[in-house]
Amino acid sequence: MNAASGIVLEHLGKTFGGGPVLQGFSASVAPGEAVALMGASGGGKTTLARIIMGLEKPDTGRVLGTEHLRFACVFQEDRLCEGFTAVANVALVLPRHSPVDVPAALRQTGLSAEELAKPAGKLSGGEKRRVALVRAMEAPSDVVVLDEAFKGLDAASRLQAYAYVKSRLAGRTLLLITHDPAEAEAFGARVVPVQKAGGAEAGPPPADD
Ligand SMILES: Nc1ncnc2c1ncn2[C@@H]1O[C@H](COP(=O)(O)OP(=O)(O)OP(=O)(O)O)[C@@H](O)[C@H]1O
Ligand SMILES: [Mg+2]
Repeated sequence: MNAASGIVLEHLGKTFGGGPVLQGFSASVAPGEAVALMGASGGGKTTLARIIMGLEKPDTGRVLGTEHLRFACVFQEDRLCEGFTAVANVALVLPRHSPVDVPAALRQTGLSAEELAKPAGKLSGGEKRRVALVRAMEAPSDVVVLDEAFKGLDAASRLQAYAYVKSRLAGRTLLLITHDPAEAEAFGARVVPVQKAGGAEAGPPPADD
């Protein structure tokens, strides 16, 4: 399961056509720790998460400790199979004979029986977000990455979704990408500032943007 030494990011650098995004970025995440990657839009949070998950290669530096880790992610976009119901979307990521009660998990986020049976393409933005969230939380993994996973949820749904995620974390490492300090606080996450290379010194995370 979790690597004993956690995840170590050493001097990561990444440049796209528009210039450097990450430069000499170093950090570490202990097994089971909750970390919030925070910073201005375009600062490199999603890029960093993609590098950690092995979906993007850094130009310089390295990621240690992820070789045997399984990642589950809510991407910034929902990435649902739009013709499938909410239940079918979650069932797709479960091992055969999984004991997970998918409808119960979806209802825990506030989705109704009617919404569970609709094709995902016909759900609202906030409803889709919750399906994507349940799909990530119920998939077997060691690390959960939530990239603005609660965006589009009203305050009450958001709190319900926080409670659901907490109830399902079960000691897994959490990488939270958010613009909301209250969200980081809700998960007791340690804030790691991520800002575009060459920008100003890291300050406190923005309240919202
Ligand atoms: N595949 C790519 N090709 C070219 N440029 C990219 C690519 N991916 C990201 N970028 C650029 O890298 C920078 C960082 O993008 P990234 O998506 O990591 O930011 P972010 O911190 O997640 O922003 P947001 O809070 O808006 O989601 C941006 O300027 C973006 O345009
Ligand atoms: Mg992003």
